[in-house]
Amino acid sequence: MKINEPITIKGVTFKNRIMFPPMTTGYEESGVIGERSFNFYKRIAEGGCAYIVLGNVSCLPGFGLKILSEADIPNFKRLADACHAVGTKLGVQLFYREFDVETYQHIVETEGMAEGRKFMAESMKTFSDQAPAETLRHLIDKAAEAAVIAKKAGIDVIQIHGDRLNGVLLSTKLNHRSDEFGGSFENRTRFSTEMVRAIRKAVPDMIMDYKLGIRLPMENGQIRGNGGLELEEAVKYAQILEKEGIDMIHIAGANHTSNIADTIPPMGIQPYGTSMEAHKRIREVVSIPTSAVARIVTPEAMEALLNNGEADIVAMGRPLVCDPDIGNKCAEGKADEIRLCMMCNKGCTDSIMSASYIQCVLNPENGHEAERKIVPAETPKKVAVVGAGIAGLEAARVAALKGHHVEVFEKELRIGGQINIAAVPPRKEEMFRSLRYYENILPKLGVKFHMGRKADTDVLNGFDHVLVATGATCVTVKVPGYDLPHVTNAWDVLDHKAVVFGNVAVIGGGQVGAETAEYLGFIGQKVSVIEMLDMVAKTESATIRPYMMENYEKYGVKMYVKTRLEKIEPGRIICVTDTESGEERIEIPADFVVMAVGSKQHRPDLDGLKVPYTFIGDCSGETTADISRATKTAYDAANAI
Ligand SMILES: Cc1cc2nc3c(=O)[nH]c(=O)nc-3n(C[C@H](O)[C@H](O)[C@H](O)COP(=O)(O)O)c2cc1C
Repeated sequence: MKINEPITIKGVTFKNRIMFPPMTTGYEESGVIGERSFNFYKRIAEGGCAYIVLGNVSCLPGFGLKILSEADIPNFKRLADACHAVGTKLGVQLFYREFDVETYQHIVETEGMAEGRKFMAESMKTFSDQAPAETLRHLIDKAAEAAVIAKKAGIDVIQIHGDRLNGVLLSTKLNHRSDEFGGSFENRTRFSTEMVRAIRKAVPDMIMDYKLGIRLPMENGQIRGNGGLELEEAVKYAQILEKEGIDMIHIAGANHTSNIADTIPPMGIQPYGTSMEAHKRIREVVSIPTSAVARIVTPEAMEALLNNGEADIVAMGRPLVCDPDIGNKCAEGKADEIRLCMMCNKGCTDSIMSASYIQCVLNPENGHEAERKIVPAETPKKVAVVGAGIAGLEAARVAALKGHHVEVFEKELRIGGQINIAAVPPRKEEMFRSLRYYENILPKLGVKFHMGRKADTDVLNGFDHVLVATGATCVTVKVPGYDLPHVTNAWDVLDHKAVVFGNVAVIGGGQVGAETAEYLGFIGQKVSVIEMLDMVAKTESATIRPYMMENYEKYGVKMYVKTRLEKIEPGRIICVTDTESGEERIEIPADFVVMAVGSKQHRPDLDGLKVPYTFIGDCSGETTADISRATKTAYDAANAI
């Protein structure tokens, strides 16, 4: 595979073509590479990735990782040494804050992270216009100083963040300056070009990578986002970067200065390989290596890009978080054993946006690299897993890897449990990828499946330990009329067991209800969502909700918020809604009513089970429909046997 071939840049050999792109992880609480952060990157390096870039490394006090003085050298050097020990090169993405840190911190403390981010985004726009030219030049000096410190710490590559402040200054839309940093193409690129020159001069023998944030054209001819360069200008600027001594270009969608979903596209919203047109155009005019990023997902897609000559290096951001062993698996001819990312954005993007840290929902070890490791069993045991949903499958994997003999009992004839219904609404079919992994590896691990078989206690008593992963069931609200024949539930609709049409009222606008309404709208029904809170899909990701709302508009889905179901009658429902003048009773036409008011744990009758057992996944705790909890509880329980 071409993925496994080395590439030499500026005399430095990268052992293969796999890159981990810059990613703010949320692990770096006090601006240093702490233990969680160190273990995360070390694990990615050990998994066979050739080139890792640390995201947003600030050359001024204030936010994320910092590289400010010689005192920071040991911190970076420790990670650089760990990477070098396994043949991985380490880069830092230099970042220069464009907001007042004290004000930002005060807002975060008093008003929360969301307000802090709003302030940051607003400041970024005003700072770029208002910062005096000397301030911009000061930032350039600081970046060059940081590069020198990075070199002393053994860092191999300096990546210039061509977005953030650069992206705003490069933009025709966001740069409103009238001095030498605004207006013409030459002026808008001046800050960036001067920075390239300053760093080149400060560290002439270091590899310089440039993240070129581009406003990517969409299929409908429109352009995504605001910041960054438009494609024609990006092509022109790439040539300038090569002339100025940049050694490699990372071609990406404009970041931070536009819609976050443009840079970190979640499942089903943008096509795969979103920046390919930009790649083709830029590679026609430069001869330095380029790296591709965003929604590349599978090793076959990586290989095709490399083989087609469309990239020299392929960056896998979320895919490496989901499976850090992509490099090793490709090298060992086991690419089919890669755990493929679903691009759900829940454990990564959503996590850092809510001030937490990256914890992939499918990879329980991610973010917990030091404490979650599969420990080989002292004595192999016979382990039964009841239920082949995502928790059961993960438990079977971990138990088998420990050396146990594992048998899975599933009452249905298909694996996947709730994934089979969660993947049905628009944009979500990529969730099926989560099952492909288990389908490929569990047979190799010798896991035996009993499909269409409900395990009884007599059978289970023949095992040494039982892991119970029987999931959850959908609940209903018992208002008058709840048992009428036109009333069903979201699970049955998404499982195609229940057929509904005409005016359909979906009761509950949480995640499941909101997605079921979207699905019903998509297949042409007239849908109303009834939600007691003030918002439908309140907990949905900021990278996804706007698209859901676009679909609601397209399909004419009506939302009734602060509204409670009171009664169901043939052809209509009666609800009570909160208005400014108090409660009001309203009538909504409903040929069918779909309950989406939540689910509760489903535990089988285990009377008579004489061997030790553990509940995992949805049936194990208070919360249900939570993949992250499912995989983590499964991993921990199986690892403890
Ligand atoms: C949680 C998260 C944090 C990110 N932080 C940064 C960052 O600090 N700097 C940056 O340039 N890009 C950042 N990105 C964008 C990634 O580098 C990458 O372009 C994006 O994830 C798309 O690639 P993928 O589909 O392989 O994940 C981030 C992405 C994610 C998911």
